[in-house]
Amino acid sequence: MSEEIKGIEQQEFMRGFTRLCDDGWLQGWHERNGGNLTYRMKAEEVEACKPFFKEPGEWVNMGVQADNLRSEYFVTTGSGRYMRNVQGDPAHNVGIVEINEAGDSWRIVWGLEDGAKPTSEFPSHFLNHSVRVEATNGADRVIYHAHPDNVIALTKVMPLDAREFTRALWKAMTECIVVFPKGVGVVPWMVPGGADIAHATSELMKTFDAAIWAQHGMFVSGPDFDLTFGLMHTIEKAAKIHGQALAMNNCSGDFMNTITDQGLRDIARDFGLTVNEDFLD
Ligand code: 13P
Ligand code: ZN
Repeated sequence: MSEEIKGIEQQEFMRGFTRLCDDGWLQGWHERNGGNLTYRMKAEEVEACKPFFKEPGEWVNMGVQADNLRSEYFVTTGSGRYMRNVQGDPAHNVGIVEINEAGDSWRIVWGLEDGAKPTSEFPSHFLNHSVRVEATNGADRVIYHAHPDNVIALTKVMPLDAREFTRALWKAMTECIVVFPKGVGVVPWMVPGGADIAHATSELMKTFDAAIWAQHGMFVSGPDFDLTFGLMHTIEKAAKIHGQALAMNNCSGDFMNTITDQGLRDIARDFGLTVNEDFLD
């Protein structure tokens, strides 16, 4: 491995990026090449990495466009690459791409060695970044897609409705409403990897920082790697608890004990949360 590549791999943001990939793998959310991760770099991080960039590749049109991401730089996992391999060899499994001035194309400036390309879900990541930049005044930088088992299983047996999913997850575990007070969106089953699912998901990301993809997985957004991973982890754990409780209760959601809507309002009051009121009775 060359000194140049080591330079970028040792940057703080790259260590956070590769650690998240490994954490997700250890949770079992990334069978084969399943799941992907992108990070919108800070200006000072781009500057620190520029001396190590390679001759840029060709511009590749994404089929989507965002004015507020013109000339930005993203770290992205590679399409077809495995999360379990990222930490051991970032340069082959991860890359840095530059966005053109029109905000509609990328080119590789580091990594993705031996012909790798950004994740096939890059259009979804890109539009999600765009709406989350807008929604959070630039605070959100991380978009994470995983295939968590229990969330996917629930999409087989529950109505594909944001209110139904959010209420079930909020009531599964007391601190859920603190972690995702806006709730979770739900995208119906769609063909992955293109502009249509990217538009459908980013529309929901205007309201939510998590969107479930029916029979596929979930997208989450956050300002840093810990909060973004923590959001995925919390929702997946709540889905597991809800699914187990349903199985223990003859598949009925009419539980002997649960958190009431008043209980949820009381948490919101004491924790100073701005809760999605539409999702409370
Ligand atoms: P990539 O290997 O292209 O990232 O695709 C994996 C995936 O999860 C598609 O939804
Ligand atoms: Zn996927």
